[in-house]
Amino acid sequence: MQDLKTDFIVVGGGVAGLRAAIELSRHGDVIVLTKDVLTEGSTEYAQGGVAVALNYDDEVAIHFEDTIKAGDGLCRHDAVNILVKEGPDRILELIDWGAEFDKEDSKLAFTIEAAHSRKRILHAKGDSTGKEIMRVLVDKIKTLKNVKKMSFNTAVDLIVQDNICYGVVVCKENSIFKILGRATIIATGGAGQVYSRTTNPDVCTGDGIAMALRAGAILEDMEFVQFHPTVLYAPNTPSFLLSEAMRGEGAIIRDVNGDAFMQRYHPKAELAPRDVVSRAIISQMVETKSDHVYLDLTHLNPEFLKKRFPRIYSTCLGYNLDITKQMVPISPAAHYLMGGIKTDIDGATNIKGLYSAGESACTGVHGANRLASNSLLEGLVFGFRCAVHASGLEPLNPTTVTDFDNAKETISRSDINTIRNHIKKTMWEYVGIIRCGKSLSQAKQEISRWKDIMDMPFRSRIGIETKNIICVAMAITESALCREGSVGAHYRTDFKERGENWQRHISVKLIDKEIKTCI
Ligand code: FAD
Ligand code: SIN
Repeated sequence: MQDLKTDFIVVGGGVAGLRAAIELSRHGDVIVLTKDVLTEGSTEYAQGGVAVALNYDDEVAIHFEDTIKAGDGLCRHDAVNILVKEGPDRILELIDWGAEFDKEDSKLAFTIEAAHSRKRILHAKGDSTGKEIMRVLVDKIKTLKNVKKMSFNTAVDLIVQDNICYGVVVCKENSIFKILGRATIIATGGAGQVYSRTTNPDVCTGDGIAMALRAGAILEDMEFVQFHPTVLYAPNTPSFLLSEAMRGEGAIIRDVNGDAFMQRYHPKAELAPRDVVSRAIISQMVETKSDHVYLDLTHLNPEFLKKRFPRIYSTCLGYNLDITKQMVPISPAAHYLMGGIKTDIDGATNIKGLYSAGESACTGVHGANRLASNSLLEGLVFGFRCAVHASGLEPLNPTTVTDFDNAKETISRSDINTIRNHIKKTMWEYVGIIRCGKSLSQAKQEISRWKDIMDMPFRSRIGIETKNIICVAMAITESALCREGSVGAHYRTDFKERGENWQRHISVKLIDKEIKTCI
């Protein structure tokens, strides 16, 4: 492949990347890179909906309060303010472009999810909200002649000299080339694949976060990983999400003895914050010596369920589970990374010309625990904002751009696969929902065994991703070790209270080839 030049490079084609690309296209040529087909990413699978203060009894100030409360004291107020204030415009614009959110009597239908004090979640085709948002954004992108979509192109590393980002090194079918541009937007999504049990699709290996770290960017809040409480748990089934919206519509969580235990753990029971529900499930699983609990919808109207959750109903039926008649076995799984590449409210990082938006970014909007359905909105709001800011950058002229290391891979694919699975298992067991100093130190030791991989060049997708998984796993573990206290989604049995100086944000950076905290 020949090297390419453009104005703007967007790495990632989910809600954040596409919204950024649409705005950037008004200011120059844009290349959108995706690792797989354009639609493959978390956005496509988003079920519950998108939170926005548009209902008649809602206000942006109430959405603000709910987000801050869920964030458990660690949200950045300026970022939350922007999210809730600019959110309605971004959603109305999406509707203007053709998004069809579900309606009741010709008015938009809003539902409720955990920790929301109002019905403010818009949804589409019942439980296919992300798919509808992607449909509209992809259709819009197709009308823009100066946006070039490059599927199955994996970004490998950023080209950064003297703290200025000039573009990315890309791998397509084992061949390496460079794309240069005046701004690079990382919108590579989350990193659920760092864990052995996750709701995230395969592409979510934290690539952009790891690339940014290697290039000198600061990562923040990496200890805050959200585990979704209600994920299918049955032999020979994937970790398929059973939307929180089901609890919003009345689903009950029961243990293996049929006990609806959530009331004992939190006054809001099934609609308690996600971290509370996940920990309650783990405690109940330990108490009942079981590896799962159940989501019970059998008391709800079967016709309503089929209409409201058609995708979940048919997917479960494909695994011989009729949600209208049977309780569904569930257990928690890694779902969302609150932390990521540290950005300001315009998506700018500490490296000139490098931006991030969506799940790969940490604007501080989610604090220690994300309010359900706030991330699709975040992708729209901050994808747009970083494009507005990046469009003001002058074209760059790098004097020389260092060539990518062309050395061959030295580890076999089967070995790299074994290492990858080992890291994922280690993260699940030792850096999961409930952690302690001992488990975290054990994880650090295990992951450090593969530290050398961080310096190796790879051309296979599995090699590139495994190197990134190791980087992100180390960053999460280091941050979790550093936070000696329990806040939001980060819970340590050896520090059950918030701990001293709990309101600080923990940052990590690559210093002398080591990932170190830099508070
Ligand atoms: P994604 O949509 O994940 O897109 C990432 C993109 O980056 C992909 O195009 C991928 O190919 C590309 N990419 C990754 N690495 C590379 C690389 N090295 N080179 C090139 N391209 C790369 N949030 C809500 O608000 N409401 C919900 O109802 C909801 N439901 C969810 C259900 C599920 C099952 C999951 C997994 C998440 C859900 N979330 C929900 C969270 C939300 O979907 C995500 O946080 C959000 O969609 C992330 O958008 P994004 O644009 O940042 O990344
Ligand atoms: C869900 O539908 O439960 C997922 C919502 C979210 O992650 O915001």
